[in-house]
Formats: sequence, C-alpha cells, structure tokens
Amino acid sequence: MELNYGSSMEMSVVVREYDGERDLEEVEKLERNCEIGSRRGFSIITNMMGDPLCRVRLFPLHVMLVAEFVGVGEIVGVVRGCMKCVGTGLGAGNVWIGCILGLRVSPKHRRMGIGLKLMKSIEAWAVRNGAEYILLATDENNVASINLFSLKCHYVKLSSLAIFVQLTDTHPKIHAPSNDVAIEKLSIEQAILLYKDRLANEKFFPLDIDNILNEELSLGTWVSYYKGERWSGLHCKGKDGEFLNNTPSSWAVVSMWKTYDSYKFQVKATPLFRCIHASLKQIGPNFLHCLRIPLACKLPLKLFGFLFLYGLHGEGDNVRELLNSLWCFAFNMVRDVRDCKAIVSEVSLNDPLYAHMPWVSSTSCINDIWFFKRVGTSKGVMKGEENWVEMNPRVHCFVDPRDF
Ligand SMILES: CC(C)(COP(=O)(O)OP(=O)(O)OC[C@H]1O[C@@H](n2cnc3c(N)ncnc32)[C@H](O)[C@@H]1OP(=O)(O)O)[C@@H](O)C(=O)NCCC(=O)NCCS
Repeated sequence: MELNYGSSMEMSVVVREYDGERDLEEVEKLERNCEIGSRRGFSIITNMMGDPLCRVRLFPLHVMLVAEFVGVGEIVGVVRGCMKCVGTGLGAGNVWIGCILGLRVSPKHRRMGIGLKLMKSIEAWAVRNGAEYILLATDENNVASINLFSLKCHYVKLSSLAIFVQLTDTHPKIHAPSNDVAIEKLSIEQAILLYKDRLANEKFFPLDIDNILNEELSLGTWVSYYKGERWSGLHCKGKDGEFLNNTPSSWAVVSMWKTYDSYKFQVKATPLFRCIHASLKQIGPNFLHCLRIPLACKLPLKLFGFLFLYGLHGEGDNVRELLNSLWCFAFNMVRDVRDCKAIVSEVSLNDPLYAHMPWVSSTSCINDIWFFKRVGTSKGVMKGEENWVEMNPRVHCFVDPRDF
C-alpha cells in the first residue's frame, strides 16, 4: 500500500505490519512524540514499556501496522487492531468485532492523509479476519480523531461512556469501607460462572471471559454484601454454581486488572506551566481545585500506571454502598503499589450503575465516545430488521480490560 505526496515531497508512505526487531526503536520514538490528550499547558503520552503490542497481545488475533516513509525508513504512524467475539445483548447472539486502538501519527506529518491510510488498512485487516463490526473509542475532546472517524471513515456514535479516575494519593479517611460490609474474593471458576450467569447478555460481553480472568494481569474478582446476611454456597470455591441462586438481598461485584504492569502514562508539562503549577501548589491544593485546573495537573510529572476496575455489577437496593466499599477496598489494596497512582473504571452513561459510581472530591470523569461501523454482511447478527448495536439506546457495555 503506497501513499504518494506529490512531486514536491517525492516521497511515499507504505503501511505494513510492525516488525519488532526492525521497528521497536522508531515506534518508541514516535510514541514519545505523540500526545493522546493535550490541555492547557500539558499533554499525556503513553509509555508501552518496551512492548508496543502490549495493548493487543492478549487477543489471539491481533496486529500492529506502521506507516513508513519509503526510502527514509522513518516510522510516521502506527495503529493496533484485535479481533474478539462478543455478545450482542440479544439472548445467545454473538458477533465477531474488530477493535481499533492506539492510532498515532507523528505531529510533523499530520494532515497528510496518513491517519486515514492507517485506518483503511486496519479496517481491511479486520474484514479479512471476519469482522462484522468495527469498534473504536476516543475522548470527546479529540476533534482530530472524531472528525477522522465520523467524517472520513463513516463511523457512527454508539454511546458515551464515562471513565472514572481517582488518584491514590487522596486522603485515607474518605476511603474507609463500611464495617457492616463483607468483602470476599471469588475463585476464578466462581467469577466465570457469575459473569456468564449475570452479564452474558450485556453488549460486548467477551465470549472468552475465562481467558481474561486467567490472565496474569488479572488480580481477581471480589464481591461485597452485608455481614448481617448469609450468602450460602459462597465458600464452596469449586465449579459449583449453587451460590448464584442464593445471593443476598443486595450485593456487588468487581474485577481488577493490573494495567500498571502493562503500560503507563506520562504527563509532560511546558516549562511555563510547570512554573505556574509549582507556585500554585505553594498556595494550596484547594486553590487548584477552585481554579478548575484539571485532574492531570495534579498527577506526578513522571510515569504512572493505574489499576483498572471492570465487570462492575450489582443487585438490590444498596448497590451504591456495596460498590463504594469495593472501590475503597481496591483503593486501599493498591495505594502502596509503587507504580500504581490511580484507580480507573469505565461505565456507560446509560448504565444504572453510573448513578452508583463512587464520587468523592478527588474523582475525575472523562467522557469517552465509542464509535462503530458495520463492515460485514451476515444476517445472523440482526434481529428482524434491527441492528443489534443500534436497537437499544440503553447501552450497557462490558468494558474489556485487555484493550482499555
Ligand atoms: C488523530 C490523528 C491520528 C489524525 O492523523 P492525521 O494523519 O493527521 O489524519 P489525516 O491527515 O488522515 O486526516 C484525515 C481527516 O481527519 C480529520 N482531522 C485530522 N486532523 C484534524 C485536526 N487537527 N482538526 C480537525 N480535523 C482533523 C479531518 O477530517 C481530516 O481530513 P481533511 O484533512 O481532509 O480535513 C492524529 O491527529 C494523531 O495522531 N493524534 C494524536 C493521537 C490520537 O489522538 N489518536 C486517536 C485516538 S486513539
């Protein structure tokens, strides 16, 4: 695949598969120069810790493509893709989707059609591998990628999700779980049974949930309920699903993923911004808050990782408190982990759980927009004439921790 830039530049760009031995250094250089968010004096970049494939390698079918200037050998763009089979939310229906993530074009080479070229190439890869739909997500403030996805590649907005972020250096008193609440770890077998029983009908529920829960990055799955109630069968840690029929009146569940062992973020501030920020810090942290200085300004200006909470679910009238206890439990578990500076979760704005998400003064929220496009022709993914993705505006999405 070649992209010509006219006679003045006399150069062309090829899109090809990433070759670890040949491209690692160039790709790392590119990632270091590519901000993924840029606001008022600072930007955030991703550090893949020497493994550019880390966000897709846990999927059996994955790829990373690079855009290279022919002759010069310079890598000017990258994109990752993976394939997964997910639930449609329509009974037992499931569908193969391609997910696109980690699209980056070097700042010097933007607006030359390279992003579009990479998108077309990765879409073709997904279609070749049987994708019926392609899914991708971006921050609501990322005008460049929203335009690229919607205007040039014809993606349609699926849903808005909220990414909750809480830094782990906040005051411990805020994070005392209730003494009335019991928190217990499920065995992997129990967690698989519970998710298949309760969330298999959720859109994007990954059919290989057992792979996720057996991965090294999975820290485990915990449930919470009131100590005054009995949850019979919970302590039979085998494959016995008895506990699913004996749930207490209210309970909640969450799984945790050590994203901090996979990749990290880095906040880069401009020299002027560092200077202003340092002066404001002297005056007091509340001052930053009053000025609505955004979250990342309070982040350390160095590498930091996060713990990802996924598979959130709850039943009964007291889900809010039970979920909050799990959140506090997670917070306390990682607050002393050196590389982990935040806990993060993502929930659809239409999900009833959204109203129950823990809100303390130090929680920030980023709006993430999911886009999709139909690329296949199989009738099996439709119910009647309705498209499974579009038919229900109350989209409850299972967020896969592997490609978050
Ligand atoms: C988003 C990104 C990949 C676009 O790459 P690019 O090579 O500049 O994109 P293209 O030249 O192919 O642009 C295609 C279209 O995208 C839209 N677009 C790209 N940059 C834009 C910008 N800065 N403002 C508004 N629209 C923009 C336009 O519609 C453009 O078509 P046009 O030039 O005919 O108007 C690039 O800006 C980037 O790497 N950003 C940082 C990383 C990131 O945000 N990645 C996406 C989230 S995963």
